[in-house]
Amino acid sequence: MSSSDPPDAAHRAAVRRVATGVAVLTVELASTPHGVTVSSLTAVSRDPLLVGFCLHRSSSCLEIVKSCRGFAVSVLNATQTTTARWFADPCRPRGRAQFDGFGWQPDPVSGAPVLADSLAWISCRPVANIDAGDHELLLAEVVGGSTRDDGQPLLSFAGQIHEANLRAVPARATTR
Ligand SMILES: Cc1cc2nc3c(=O)[nH]c(=O)nc-3n(C[C@H](O)[C@H](O)[C@H](O)COP(=O)(O)O)c2cc1C
Repeated sequence: MSSSDPPDAAHRAAVRRVATGVAVLTVELASTPHGVTVSSLTAVSRDPLLVGFCLHRSSSCLEIVKSCRGFAVSVLNATQTTTARWFADPCRPRGRAQFDGFGWQPDPVSGAPVLADSLAWISCRPVANIDAGDHELLLAEVVGGSTRDDGQPLLSFAGQIHEANLRAVPARATTR
């Protein structure tokens, strides 16, 4: 197989076995808020503190995020499946109406809506964007954030949303 061959189903299935958290990225531009569900958010650098995520080129959020000065990320907890599906639904209303029925507060840095009850909130400033096939990879500096002390994450795994019930493995000396 050459590197120009399209990836087959097995390749895609293997990539989908990488479990990731699910978050809603929110941005407010010209007093109009927008939100989109992402599972591609990942920590990139500790110093400076950077996160990265990918948006499909067709995402209506892409140009807004690239042109904004800041945005917020609400990291979803295991009870927020409906929220994840809503902000992934292409038929949801645009602008402020898409947040009707959700509790939220403005991110103190960017003004973007931070969804109530989320596992964590992160405030970001975009710093770079890189072409990545049918997506763009966006890098952002973390300029604010806080977390709840409890709660389980919502996960994306094998093409589905999962409500996690994680059990921490106690630290101990490795014996091999
Ligand atoms: C669990 C989940 C994770 C998703 N992750 C991403 C992602 O990382 N990047 C992306 O571009 N779309 C992702 N999507 C799809 C978008 O949320 C969806 O296409 C959305 O309608 C795009 O909205 P927009 O066009 O208003 O930006 C995800 C959807 C779900 C359900």
